[in-house]
Amino acid sequence: MAGKFITLEGGEGVGKTTNIEFIKEYFLQLNIPVVVTREPGGTPIAETLRKILLAKHEETISGQTELLLMFAARSQHLSEVIYPNLKKGNWVLCDRFTDATYAYQGGGRKVADNKIACLENLVQGDFRPDLTLLLDAPVEVGLVRAKTRNELDRFEMEQIDFFKSVRETYLNRAKQYPERIKIIQADQVLEQVQKQIAEQLEQIVKGND
Ligand code: TMP
Repeated sequence: MAGKFITLEGGEGVGKTTNIEFIKEYFLQLNIPVVVTREPGGTPIAETLRKILLAKHEETISGQTELLLMFAARSQHLSEVIYPNLKKGNWVLCDRFTDATYAYQGGGRKVADNKIACLENLVQGDFRPDLTLLLDAPVEVGLVRAKTRNELDRFEMEQIDFFKSVRETYLNRAKQYPERIKIIQADQVLEQVQKQIAEQLEQIVKGND
């Protein structure tokens, strides 16, 4: 692939939106063409699946159904947006990707990791992000922020233990893949958070020269 694939991860309310903008600007100032996208979503069909995933329904959605819908959206997103852009030499900055599936469907919903890994291989082969920035903050801090924003979606309505498992799974993955997943302490003032992010971006830009 000619471009780099960068993902941003973290629990609810850790400041992904603000920092996505910062990262985009960072690359644009270096004249690196960057496309910003998100999961679940990023194409019309994948955005329709997102609506189903985030809405509250009378009918229960099992962890396995949720998992399959996440990967259906991802498959569409990869073939329509991520791969074509990377091939053209654009960098792709994605708000969440498969680490979120391990954290939310695995850690949160307790779907077995081997099921997730099986779909990951089916949908992505050995394609993985070049860099993942994990915005980490205590669950309580993020939830207070998330809850003041707007009406809660199906995930945001979960209990604190769900989000504690999500956070723990993310942190375990960062330990498992230290070369790829970089932890950003997100419970600091914005300037400090962005300083940590910039340090990581500098590394990946340097490595690309
Ligand atoms: P967002 O609020 O960060 O846009 O993400 C939407 C929700 O989707 C968020 O609560 C996390 C959840 N999610 C999963 O459960 N699994 C996934 O694979 C992805 C990409 C998101």
